Amino acid sequence: MTRLLAASTLDVAEFEAKLVLAEAVHALAEVAASCEERAAELGAAPKPDQRRATDEQEERLAVALATPPHQRLAALPRAWLTPLLGMFGTSPFDPLLDGPSERVRRRGLSDLQDALGGLLDAAARLRPAADQPAVPSSRPAVRTAQRPTMGRRDERFATFENTRDYRGAADWRDLGSPYDNDLLELVRVNRDEIDALETFALALFDLVAEADLESLRHLARLTWDEARHAAIGQELLHERFGDPFAYECSMIGIRVRGQMTGWHAWTQITVFGELGIIGPMRALERTARRRGDDRIAHAFGFIASDETMHLRDSRRLLDRNHPAGGLARAADAARARAGRILEELGLYDAEQFAQLDERQIFELLGE
Ligand SMILES: [Fe+2]
Ligand SMILES: [Fe+2]
Repeated sequence: MTRLLAASTLDVAEFEAKLVLAEAVHALAEVAASCEERAAELGAAPKPDQRRATDEQEERLAVALATPPHQRLAALPRAWLTPLLGMFGTSPFDPLLDGPSERVRRRGLSDLQDALGGLLDAAARLRPAADQPAVPSSRPAVRTAQRPTMGRRDERFATFENTRDYRGAADWRDLGSPYDNDLLELVRVNRDEIDALETFALALFDLVAEADLESLRHLARLTWDEARHAAIGQELLHERFGDPFAYECSMIGIRVRGQMTGWHAWTQITVFGELGIIGPMRALERTARRRGDDRIAHAFGFIASDETMHLRDSRRLLDRNHPAGGLARAADAARARAGRILEELGLYDAEQFAQLDERQIFELLGE
């Protein structure tokens, strides 16, 4: 179910629904992780490979992912979440002998109920649009669940995908003050982190049966964090700069990372994306505080703290767990893969890309 939600963050287009899905990804991953941790305490810690779906589960997931996104979202609460709630709703645990398991169950039930509420709201909002072509009755030819390789945006967004450099983009206009220019740029950067949430979600989808539990929890948390950053960006665009949909949304990050494996996508965004964002946001936070613009100072303080954690923990986890063996090798492989994809897309020459430094790659692909 977590993989289904994670894949759906890419191809469910509606902005608000993506945010709900991202939060539900985090909630469900936490429930699954607490179950695994309790199993480990009882001496039955599963290996990553034991998280691999059974043939039956994989086929069910494949069928769900072959369903149009709106219909899938409409079916999620009843077909997927309610049975899970039923499992967590009755206790097989003796509260005296096995109190810790009972606590995992109760907390899991509460998290699942929150996720159900969010998904029901999101599905209800989509109802008119959900009346789309019927689910294909034929089973998909491929029995392996395929996730989307590109993110979708709803029709309120205009998009561009040649760069992440907002000041060089066609719709950039100078606001006449360096503070306002920096603010506009950085709220747009954050709003467009829709593709960062999609990146961490696709990495989680790909790595469920490969990565250690700490990495999976981390990826789920980052999926939710980036959804909140996108929502904060959208809110601040609205508060300070008018209609947030008037600002075009950059798609180049997910265009490239969507075609990568989970390991490469996670490495690319960590090594070349996250690092570039923290310094400018801390600088804006300081300037905002000096100017008495507390709203902005607070917002960017929290976001920069999230990003600092992302960078620190992702680098540590990738260094320890990436199959290439260490962060430096992982980064080289991700850079080479990004260069090939950019060349295939006709967006950049692979050899030129290989010469770019980290800052230039950040300007091209963003977080
Ligand atoms: Fe972010
Ligand atoms: Fe981040």
